[in-house]
Amino acid sequence: MVTIRPEQPRDIPAVRSVHQSAFPTSLEADLVDRLRANGKAAVSLVAQDATGIVGHILFSPVAFDPPAPVVAFGLAPMAVMPGHEKHGVGRRLVQNGLAECHALGACLVVVLGEPDYYGRFGFERASRHGLRNQFGAEDAFMVFMLDAGGHPPPGALVKYAPEFSALPKRGDA
Ligand SMILES: CC(C)(COP(=O)(O)OP(=O)(O)OC[C@H]1O[C@@H](n2cnc3c(N)ncnc32)[C@H](O)[C@@H]1OP(=O)(O)O)[C@@H](O)C(=O)NCCC(=O)NCCS
Repeated sequence: MVTIRPEQPRDIPAVRSVHQSAFPTSLEADLVDRLRANGKAAVSLVAQDATGIVGHILFSPVAFDPPAPVVAFGLAPMAVMPGHEKHGVGRRLVQNGLAECHALGACLVVVLGEPDYYGRFGFERASRHGLRNQFGAEDAFMVFMLDAGGHPPPGALVKYAPEFSALPKRGDA
């Protein structure tokens, strides 16, 4: 049985371990640490079962150019511990995370990732909603529209937090 809950300080080493196990390098684990240390882990959820922390998802604020007075988040990174995939842990992390973003008043959530995966949750190609990205991504740059608040102007560039600049330009979520 897997529980999804907000990350607590005691989870930090296990969260790092999930990302280091799921991704080929420590870039994502380091990104999580940087975002958390800089107060940008707006929504940080863990999946826990009897063995410990088996998944993690993070949402951090994104800004727009031209600036827009709206709340919006980027989903990244997300990981499920190898050996625990394909049991719906990722799905529950995404769905619970989107609900948390909605509760925080977000008008949208963006992700840079695999369209076949995030499309399952209702993410759509962001360019259809007039949103541009910094990474040169096309299909992989997606958005989940939420109801709250206004929306950025058509053609707006979505700007991830500077902490993301250490990642490869076309890195996945
Ligand atoms: C991607 C990841 C978070 C999915 O976690 P999960 O708990 O297995 O996800 P779910 O159980 O909700 O969904 C599993 C389904 O998604 C599919 N899936 C997983 N990764 C996928 C990908 N990159 N592209 C397309 N489909 C993918 C699986 O094949 C499976 O399909 P099925 O339901 O038809 O069998 C996990 O595999 C992981 O941590 N991968 C390494 C890190 C990573 O790539 N993170 C970013 C995701 S873009």
